[in-house]
Amino acid sequence: MSIKQEVARRRTFAIISHPDAGKTTLTEKLLLFAGAIQIAGSVKARKASRHAASDWMEIEKQRGISVASSVMQMEYRDCVLNLLDTPGHQDFSEDTYRVLTAVDAALMVIDAANGVEPQTIRLLQVCRARNTPIITFINKLDREVREPLDLLSEIEAHLGMDAVPFSWPVGMGRAFGGVFDIRRDRMRVFKAGQERRGAEDEIIDGRDNPAIAERFGDAYAQAREEIDLIEAAAQPFDHAAFLAGRQTPVFFGSAINNFGVQEVLDALVELAPKPGPRAALEREVQPDEPRFSGVVFKVQANMDPAHRDRVAFLRVSSGRFERGMRLKVSRTGKEIRPNNVVSFLSQRRELLDEAYAGDVIGIPNHGVLQLGDVLTEGENLQFTGLPFFAPELFQAVEVKDPLRTKQLRTGLTQLGEEGAIQVFKPAAAGGALLLGAIGQLQFEVVAHRLKTEYGVDARLMPSRYNMARWITSDDPKALRKFLDSNAANIAYDVVDAVAFLASSPAQLRVAAELYPAVHFHAMREHG
Ligand code: G4P
Repeated sequence: MSIKQEVARRRTFAIISHPDAGKTTLTEKLLLFAGAIQIAGSVKARKASRHAASDWMEIEKQRGISVASSVMQMEYRDCVLNLLDTPGHQDFSEDTYRVLTAVDAALMVIDAANGVEPQTIRLLQVCRARNTPIITFINKLDREVREPLDLLSEIEAHLGMDAVPFSWPVGMGRAFGGVFDIRRDRMRVFKAGQERRGAEDEIIDGRDNPAIAERFGDAYAQAREEIDLIEAAAQPFDHAAFLAGRQTPVFFGSAINNFGVQEVLDALVELAPKPGPRAALEREVQPDEPRFSGVVFKVQANMDPAHRDRVAFLRVSSGRFERGMRLKVSRTGKEIRPNNVVSFLSQRRELLDEAYAGDVIGIPNHGVLQLGDVLTEGENLQFTGLPFFAPELFQAVEVKDPLRTKQLRTGLTQLGEEGAIQVFKPAAAGGALLLGAIGQLQFEVVAHRLKTEYGVDARLMPSRYNMARWITSDDPKALRKFLDSNAANIAYDVVDAVAFLASSPAQLRVAAELYPAVHFHAMREHG
């Protein structure tokens, strides 16, 4: 197959939701329907075994959040689907943001009882900012939930885009009769159960079919009325509007009962876009160019406690990746020749032979690769848009046992490079390292990981800072003067970018007024 054909059959998407909406369950069912796993329960089981394998996941269990994000690849119909999971908890929104830079579409899962929840809104804002097309799955119709029309208007209000139902529920909870496929004009009858794969579902054709009205009574009468209403009032589906992030197709179902899953998979294949061009600073990179390029959007240390390795997750932007090919890291000019690259087919790590635009590959390494790094066959390329946000919370960190200072530094460097936390080294001699976070939970996870993965008992202490701004200037002299006069507030992050730490907005304002030639940035883009 040519590169062009391989690209055309790729679909790379993230699955986003508020915790507990059913993201893990739906992920598992997508894999089941695509034939990537054989038994329902294996993703859940993996979640459980990960708790056992590594203590820090205990935090996830206790709080019911998903801390780590992962990648899964499956084949369905003629397509290769790359599914990127995202952490649901808002304290990890930075990590999620970076994952969302690596996808071409998003699948949003909504709990029909709760509607649009806070974390969904944050994730949606990110998708909206990037015009990522979104497919919506409204889950848990087997429960007593909210009225579907209500849910639709809530989605529209929060998304700022039109919601176009492709299916419509007939009843809910105990009276859940199934979903009516509006476009194909037929009803799929609900049956509870975890092991079915849709093929044997009962289908009844035609919205005017008296058999449906008779069997589902009031529930169908109401659904029928609503469908008519929608068809009269709502915008028709427009594929271009969906691709531009202005419309979202909506599906209803019950993930736990494998119901409505097939429709979602079909929508991903039929509606979601293939990988498109990516903007680099130098030029626009086309996915079907012959030469390989890709970006590291996530780094994870000690993913598998048994291996104690670091894996850089790279999204292929163009060309064909082949095992053993020679690649250049744009930032450093270093050459690497990754041999043991892994793909994530069926969630097992498998050695990978080739990959195309949209695919995600994992490159085990020992610190050569950082977030935002670009790998090419030689050309210097920098992709834009992989952001780091200025932390809003700070804590100083010290090691309880001074003999383990080195391990503390190693641990913090690795966790910092992973983006789990930001680490600042004060310019003034003797100052304790500072940790910067967006959410409080990041500190707890890092303290826990320092202990379990690096054997370091760290002491976290309050810090007087609560703001950071990366600083630059076109005038080296002015910058030097600023650094010298504010030495007590200057620190360097994990890639040695210099930052000004302030304890109040007023302090920052004063500094900005005194030094007009210095620029203060709340966000740093890699590179
Ligand atoms: P998350 O990844 O978004 O956090 O959600 P997850 O899939 O773990 O699902 C959260 C809970 O919702 C789980 O129950 C799951 O079984 C349930 N659930 C998912 N889909 C459906 C559905 O279609 N209908 C109903 N009624 N429930 C659903 P749990 O009790 O927290 O976990 P478990 O003991 O079932 O594993």
